[in-house]
Amino acid sequence: MTESVVILDFGSQYTQLIARRVREQKVFSKILPFHASVEEIMSEEPKGIILSGSPANVYDKKAPLPDFRIFDAGVPVLGICYGLQVISHFFKGKVHKSPRREYGAARLHVSKADGLLHKYPKTSTCWMSHGDKLDRLPKGFERLAHTANAPVAVVGDPERRIYGVQFHPEVVHTPDGAKIISNFLFRICRAKSTWTPRSFVEESVETIQEQVGSSKVVLGLSGGVDSSVAAVLIHKAIGKKLTCIFVDNGLLRLEEAGRIKKAFRGHFKMNMKFVDARKEFLTALRRVRSPEKKRKIIGHTFIDVFDRAAKKIGAVKYLAQGTLYPDVIESVSVFGGPTSMIKSHHNVGGLPAKMKLKLLEPLRMLFKDEVRQVGRTLGIPSEFVDRHPFPGPGLAVRILGDITEERLDLLKAADAIVIEEIKKGGFYKDLWQAFGVLLPIKSVGVMGDERTYENALAIRAVTSQDGMTADWAQLPHDFLGHLSNRIINEVRGINRVCLDISSKPPATIEWE
Ligand code: XMP
Repeated sequence: MTESVVILDFGSQYTQLIARRVREQKVFSKILPFHASVEEIMSEEPKGIILSGSPANVYDKKAPLPDFRIFDAGVPVLGICYGLQVISHFFKGKVHKSPRREYGAARLHVSKADGLLHKYPKTSTCWMSHGDKLDRLPKGFERLAHTANAPVAVVGDPERRIYGVQFHPEVVHTPDGAKIISNFLFRICRAKSTWTPRSFVEESVETIQEQVGSSKVVLGLSGGVDSSVAAVLIHKAIGKKLTCIFVDNGLLRLEEAGRIKKAFRGHFKMNMKFVDARKEFLTALRRVRSPEKKRKIIGHTFIDVFDRAAKKIGAVKYLAQGTLYPDVIESVSVFGGPTSMIKSHHNVGGLPAKMKLKLLEPLRMLFKDEVRQVGRTLGIPSEFVDRHPFPGPGLAVRILGDITEERLDLLKAADAIVIEEIKKGGFYKDLWQAFGVLLPIKSVGVMGDERTYENALAIRAVTSQDGMTADWAQLPHDFLGHLSNRIINEVRGINRVCLDISSKPPATIEWE
């Protein structure tokens, strides 16, 4: 069994970051809601437990509190921010309701560079974000560090192996924070650094083989990072028992279908069904202008086409999906009571329900960057592993207004130039997405001696961490000039190129 650390989530915005920081040290981590019972926690056989921060106050009546038996389970505990206050609450320290929040950088002074603070700098910067603070030590604990504002910034009880920090070691603004995480993992929990993309692949292959047995699996391959990595991983485990279905809806980028065929059928030798449904999608989308209607039609048509193709394979038991960890973490609601809800995965809308298949989700414990690492380990070309996100409805939401074959061809040609130049210019890896949007207007131009009346294209290039917020990318003017020239000269039917300089919010990344 993989060694793991359990993180109890008290509703902090940083909980997932803690999980990633642990995994960066090659120790697997799993997030559980704060109210998980000690039995549930111990069934993971954790080497340690980390208590996250929280927007709540520990002395509130409705404060989220853990199953306190965790402190008697013989497993090391690290409390971060609110987590420290939970420890203090249980061990009878004193949490002081501070009239003002402390937010931002503070100087940390270490008084005992031992255990959690082994080889920690004597003074350093740490990142505070809290309202309450500790001003009496919990019973049996010693003070290891303080700041001007927090007399008890780090505490520890080496005998019981319980530690707490007032600041946030998981954020980059605490430059030495990784040392605290690694000290906890390796000096206190005695965990081993063995969780790597390779070990993940080896273990997953075994689990998939056990789970699937002699059954057949079907997977909707889109060519995106998640479905590509899931496909190659499952194929490694069960070979020809996996059939990938690729639906060409005609809304893909230029030559995309060919690229996918070459990589997955040609290189990886997968069982693959290619469904040419271009006509079906285009007919269903005729004269549809509303973005939401476009999405619904594309979603339903996809399910129909996929369902028909899957039925032809016969006796399929599993539907494989590239679901990722952020989609399955049980999100806790701190202010709305102890209720919790599971976020549903929305990528393959409705497929399992309609097809009555069991789900196979081998990436459900991974974050996106981990999926990319696993993809590289599996030998998937960078062209697939490092690619920008591409929306399910494809170019349909990048052609404003009516979708016709002619307009699709225009956008495909222009978009291919955008991507080619962005890659050539060395910008691709730093951008979240870059693409062209075909506008529903024509404008006058002049080419040679001739007056033109043709389409306008908008260039959209953004930087982002997760797609939730985004900034428009400040690409160099000479690069943009060159890009515009190429598009206007090479794509007949476009005579004007504009740049989208809006950020999200208030705009969105896609135009529809
Ligand atoms: P917006 O336009 O909402 O996009 O700022 C945020 C991210 O989501 C992608 N996107 C979609 N992905 N189906 C998808 O699978 C969709 O209907 C869809 N709409 C937007 C978008 O490309 C961006 O990465």
